Amino acid sequence: MGSGFRLIFDCILLLMLFGICQSSTVGVCYGRNADDLPTADKVVQLIQLHNIKNVRIYDSNIQILKAFANTGIELMIGISNLDLLPFAQFQSNADTWLKNSILPYYPATKITYITVGAEVTEAPNNVSALVVPAMQNVFTALRKAGLHRKIKVSSTHSLGILSRSFPPSAGAFNSSHAFFLRPMLEFLAEHQSPFMVDIYPYYAYRDSSSNVSLDYALFESSSEVIDPNTGWLYTNMFDAQIDAIYFALMALNFRTIKIMVTETGWPSKGSPKETAATPDNAQTYNTNLIRHVINDTGTPAKPGEEIDVYIFSLFNENRKPGLESERNWGLFFPDQTSVYNLDFTGRGSLDTTTGSNITSSNGTSWCIASPTASEDDLRKGLDWACSSGNVDCSAIQPSQPCFEPDSLASHASYAFNSYYQQNGATDIACRFGGAGIRTNKNPSYDNCLYMTLGSNKTAASNATVSPSRSSSSVEKVSVWIPGCLLMAFLPFL
Ligand SMILES: *[C@@H]1O[C@H](CO)[C@@H](O)[C@H](O)[C@H]1NC(C)=O
Ligand SMILES: *[C@@H]1O[C@H](CO)[C@@H](O)[C@H](O)[C@H]1NC(C)=O
Ligand SMILES: *[C@@H]1O[C@H](CO)[C@@H](O)[C@H](O)[C@H]1NC(C)=O
Ligand SMILES: *[C@@H]1O[C@H](CO)[C@@H](O)[C@H](O)[C@H]1NC(C)=O
Ligand SMILES: *[C@@H]1O[C@H](CO)[C@@H](O)[C@H](O)[C@H]1NC(C)=O
Ligand SMILES: *[C@@H]1O[C@H](CO)[C@@H](O)[C@H](O)[C@H]1NC(C)=O
Ligand SMILES: *[C@@H]1O[C@H](CO)[C@@H](O)[C@H](O)[C@H]1NC(C)=O
Ligand SMILES: *[C@@H]1O[C@H](CO)[C@@H](O)[C@H](O)[C@H]1NC(C)=O
Repeated sequence: MGSGFRLIFDCILLLMLFGICQSSTVGVCYGRNADDLPTADKVVQLIQLHNIKNVRIYDSNIQILKAFANTGIELMIGISNLDLLPFAQFQSNADTWLKNSILPYYPATKITYITVGAEVTEAPNNVSALVVPAMQNVFTALRKAGLHRKIKVSSTHSLGILSRSFPPSAGAFNSSHAFFLRPMLEFLAEHQSPFMVDIYPYYAYRDSSSNVSLDYALFESSSEVIDPNTGWLYTNMFDAQIDAIYFALMALNFRTIKIMVTETGWPSKGSPKETAATPDNAQTYNTNLIRHVINDTGTPAKPGEEIDVYIFSLFNENRKPGLESERNWGLFFPDQTSVYNLDFTGRGSLDTTTGSNITSSNGTSWCIASPTASEDDLRKGLDWACSSGNVDCSAIQPSQPCFEPDSLASHASYAFNSYYQQNGATDIACRFGGAGIRTNKNPSYDNCLYMTLGSNKTAASNATVSPSRSSSSVEKVSVWIPGCLLMAFLPFL
């Protein structure tokens, strides 16, 4: 076999392996129903810092599209229910919108989905009838621009589109929606677009706490719910709700349509009656959700199936009407501090997964710049820590104790560590988009003292001579690589 042929063979093998390796992604919904949110540029920095690769917005705001340019972040944009009429009425409206509002920013801004209408079955004024014609016109506009394979068109739904969701095998769409739902499903099947659904075990629990256990809603259940028709065991409500949709789709003979979860989450605060709305429960739900989907566990009906999910929401949104919980779904406060820690990689505690021991004998650890981080990532992390991260960076200014050595890595290390210590020294606080790593050797040198947990700037003003940083033993925070990616590299090993 000629080497050229061999090369092509390897490439094809590689592509095939990557093809089957589109593992589930976890994105975040960037809702903006608030009057106190940071600027779009700041938000993009925050998103990058947390390594979030997929973001959903609810409109096509130009400032936001511009802010995401050249970030590589995949963006789902939306057409609101109020705008459906013009899109449904005339093809030219969809063409004009695409030409003026989207194409100028594409592909620098990596738009991958357009949601046409949102939860139309919950909307007033019977907008349901408009949604499929609007989807068709948007699709046609994309096809004329040659983008219909790169940007998928769909529409989001609430679980209320089902008339029955339990047991999952009895899942069925409410027949009153058939007039628009059937054409929509035909559209999705024809264009290989996903069925988008917003899934909220929180509401199911809140509104029916006598029948639903909190553990089942939070993915913490030790007991299982059995579907009597299939005999399948459900350990969490998320899976049960998704399978109810699969069965509803199958009942109408749409077997190829994939499901995408365009919103899910848990509020961290609520009215006195909403006792389950706590930071602990929100952290538990979202942590377990990420762990559950990230390794393509799938559901009992579709084991191993990838499911892309979007966590609702990036920020607490102070202008949302309704119960107290409505304004408290955020992962972040408007000042960009975390409502609770959340590890988007789903790897959980680094110390246990890597088997490495990053705490020193007295339990102290530090966070420094990774030797493998790019200059760009170090710069971003440093700038962020010294601004939004609220780190006091005066020590790395000229003539101050930590200015020398005057290098990006050294300054970033100082700033990363201060942020890390001020934020509880958790593994997440040392992430910096992969640019930070933890170490058990004190990086302090000469007069430059690195903070430790509980110490503070002012206390760390005097000289203590420590081993130089070059001798520090540094344990790389492991990078989670899906097994299938490792396989994909085998041809080169
Ligand atoms: C909504 O509009 C559709 C199509 O015009 C119609 O079939 C359906 O009955 C309407 N539903 C309501 C609740 O008015
Ligand atoms: C089905 O939808 C109709 C119209 O929205 C609603 O009145 C009815 O209660 C729904 N049925 C069920 C079983 O949810
Ligand atoms: C709990 O389930 C029972 C039996 O299915 C039902 O009658 C009752 O309405 C449910 N309670 C709530 C609060 O949903
Ligand atoms: C994926 O995660 C689930 C739930 O945490 C676990 O039960 C399962 O063993 C994991 N699968 C793989 C392949 O790691
Ligand atoms: C890490 O090191 C400390 C101190 O050497 C030791 O007490 C601790 O048990 C170690 N932890 C693990 C998981 O090895
Ligand atoms: C722990 O030990 C390190 C040196 O290894 C020292 O710098 C640090 O101050 C100690 N922390 C505490 C809380 O004693
Ligand atoms: C250390 O300083 C930071 C910022 O100046 C402050 O937010 C934090 O509460 C302080 N920590 C301690 C333990 O004093
Ligand atoms: C700093 O050094 C000065 C003079 O060497 C000393 O008086 C002071 O107590 C030291 N402060 C601390 C916090 O160690």
